[in-house]
Amino acid sequence: MPDPQSGIIPEPSQSSLFLILSVPHPVQDGPAVAKVTSRIPNLTQKVAKLDPRAKLVSVASLGSELWDILFPGKRPRGFRPFKSIQVAGRSAPATGGDLLIHLISRRQDLCFELATRIRKELGGTVDLLDEVHGFRYLDARDLTGFIDGTENPKGKQRAEVALIGQEDADFAGGSFVFTQRYVHDLEKWEMLPVREQEKIIGRRKRDSVELSDRTKPATSHISRTVIEEGDEELEIVRHSFPYGTTSERGLFFIAYTGNLDIPEKMLARMMGTSGDGLHDHLMDFSRAVSGANFFAPSLRVLRALAKS
Ligand code: HEM
Repeated sequence: MPDPQSGIIPEPSQSSLFLILSVPHPVQDGPAVAKVTSRIPNLTQKVAKLDPRAKLVSVASLGSELWDILFPGKRPRGFRPFKSIQVAGRSAPATGGDLLIHLISRRQDLCFELATRIRKELGGTVDLLDEVHGFRYLDARDLTGFIDGTENPKGKQRAEVALIGQEDADFAGGSFVFTQRYVHDLEKWEMLPVREQEKIIGRRKRDSVELSDRTKPATSHISRTVIEEGDEELEIVRHSFPYGTTSERGLFFIAYTGNLDIPEKMLARMMGTSGDGLHDHLMDFSRAVSGANFFAPSLRVLRALAKS
C-alpha cells in the first residue's frame, strides 16, 4: 500500500510554510540531517495535537545531490535537478536546495511552531536558502486576482497523479516535487483591462470559467499548460500559495508528480522553449526567482533515512 507523507494528497488549506535549506557539509552532516528529517512526521503529529481541527500536515523532501550522498547508487527513476532556462529575456533560474520542508494547516501559527521546532533540531547543519509563508487569498485566488486550483486533480485522482507507482516499486508512494518562486509585477498587471488579463490566463476572472476556444489565445496560461498526449491530458497536483508583503508579492509554485517530465514540459511551453515559437504571456508579468526539484520519499523510505 502506498504510504505518502501527510501533506501531499489533502486538498489545499488556509496557510502554508516553505523552507528551502542547504547542507553546506553534506558528507559530514548528511546522516544527522537525515535522522532529523525522518522524525518530521512524528514531530508533525505532536504539534498537530495542539489543535486537531487545524489539520497540520507536512512533507519533507530531499534534493538530488544530498540524496546521492545518503543513498549512493539507489535513486528514484527520473530524479534529477531542476534545469534552468534562459530565453529572450525570460529566465527560470535553478537555485538548488538540499532539503525542502512544506507545511500546511488551517492555522499559520501551527506551521510556524512546527517550522521552528524543525529548525531547532537541524541546528547548524543547514543554511536557509529561502523561507516563504503562504496564505490563502480571498476565495483561493492568486494575487493576480484569478482563482488558482480550478483544474487541480480531485479525490482519488490526486494520489494517481502525485505518487510514484509500482513502475518503480522501491520508491512507490514517494513523489517528485517541482518548485519555483515567482515575483509578480502587479503594477504592470493591474494596468491591463480585465478582458486582457482574462486572455492571458485563459479563464474568466470572476468565476474561473474557461474562455471559449475562439476567444482563448494560444499564448494564454491555460493553453500553454494543458498538454494532451495520446488520449490523455498531462496532470500534476499543485499546492501553490500566494505570499508576500505590500512591497513584494508573488506565488510559491509547487507541484507533486510521479513523473518530472510533466512539469518540465509545461514550463518549457510557458517559457517558450518547446519549439512552437510561443510563450505564456503570464511570464511577461511574473518572473521566477527560484527553481529546485526534490524527492519526497514515502513514510517507509523516510524512516529508513534514519539508518543512512
Ligand atoms: C506566476 C506563476 C503562476 C501563476 C500566477 C499561475 C496561475 C494559474 C491560474 C490562475 C490557473 C487557472 C486556474 C486553475 O486551473 O488552477 C492556473 C492553471 C494551471 N497552471 Fe498555473 N500558474 C503559475 C505557474 C504555473 C507553472 C510554473 C505551472 C507548471 C509548471 C503551472 C501549471 C498549471 C496547470 C497544469 C494549470 C491547469 C490547467 C488546466 O487544466 O486548465 N502554472 N495557473
